[in-house]
Amino acid sequence: MLIDLSFHANCPDCRINSRLLQRRAGALLRECRVSGYGLSILLVDDQEISWLNDHYRHKSGPTNVLSFPFADGADSSLALVPVKELGDIIISVDTACREANEYKQSLHDRLTWLITHGLLHLLGYDHERSEADAILMQDKEQELLSRLQHSRSTAMTHLAINVDHIATIRQARGGVEPDPVAAAAICEMAGAAGIVVHLREDRRHIQDRDIMVLRETVKTKLNLEMGANKEIIGIALALKPDMVTLVPEKRQELTTEGGLDVAAQKKMLAKTIDKMSKAGIPVSLFVDPDSRQIKAAQEIGATFVEIHTGRYCDAASEKIREQEFQTIAAMAEEAYQIGLRVYAGHGLNYQTTARIAALDTIEELSIGHAIIARAAFVGLDQAVRDMLDIVQEASRLS
Ligand code: PXP
Repeated sequence: MLIDLSFHANCPDCRINSRLLQRRAGALLRECRVSGYGLSILLVDDQEISWLNDHYRHKSGPTNVLSFPFADGADSSLALVPVKELGDIIISVDTACREANEYKQSLHDRLTWLITHGLLHLLGYDHERSEADAILMQDKEQELLSRLQHSRSTAMTHLAINVDHIATIRQARGGVEPDPVAAAAICEMAGAAGIVVHLREDRRHIQDRDIMVLRETVKTKLNLEMGANKEIIGIALALKPDMVTLVPEKRQELTTEGGLDVAAQKKMLAKTIDKMSKAGIPVSLFVDPDSRQIKAAQEIGATFVEIHTGRYCDAASEKIREQEFQTIAAMAEEAYQIGLRVYAGHGLNYQTTARIAALDTIEELSIGHAIIARAAFVGLDQAVRDMLDIVQEASRLS
């Protein structure tokens, strides 16, 4: 099943969880028994959809969704090509956002409805043909959407690896080995989807040189973890990582202890997010699984939240671990429903990761210590692959 989901140049893509939409589109194809076919979903802005609406349908102004079946106007020689394509669904994200507000839906649910509607058009349904056809199409939409709520996930959760502790070992002797830059390359070659480093104010592990070389060498995604302080903000703006994760930072702590108190620091964090946004850097806020913090993160314009999994990982009993897991699942759902992209991390290891990876609202896990610790015995490549197996197996079964 090949679903190509892409964003056109001016489309505001950063708030969209493309993994989730791809998974939902895959489930829709399966429900419609056309999972052997390819489908293209293109997300555009109002200006582009207005042009397409005018050009192909002679209607003025933007619309929410357009469907172009593959057979329509296709070159007859394409009949010889051994691919089975349903066609293109083109959606205006601007209109989808307006409709989501109007119908009090999440943006992702609105986009799912539009994909469903577009797909049914590709399969020959047409609400404009007659009243009976309109009822038929609407009934089919309802049926598919309710089945979707119970369908299984197929897309994979991403694994990003924090290589700070490679630098911790290097700093223990103040030399040049082991190099976190080499570690990042090994992680990427083993299948990691991103590299995370925390440039601390006290430079206890990652150094300025590391982030500069990583910016040049990381091929997947460089996520710079940082406190929102003036010096580090300046460095981030000059470096332009693929994203930043803002965390609370205390000199005395061994590692990041808790999530940000976003609700209490809204003004300062909003200013930092604004500066990063102007430089084209999406911002994630590291928060405890707490509704108040998640709402505040959305209100001040964060693109992502990373939900702190520490209490779940460190739980003193299975009963407490279960409670913490349920809280994380509920908070990830809440964050996702209000349009945030959701990551999770801290303290995850080879025993605790699977359940979190199985949550389909969570796109990516950020894991460091457990992988670096295992690498001391089995090598970094193997340690990354072992964790990837867990993450991929869990997201396949969810
Ligand atoms: N996410 C954040 C925000 C962190 O501060 C850390 C620790 O640096 C991690 C994830 C990774 O945590 P761990 O090293 O326990 O896997």
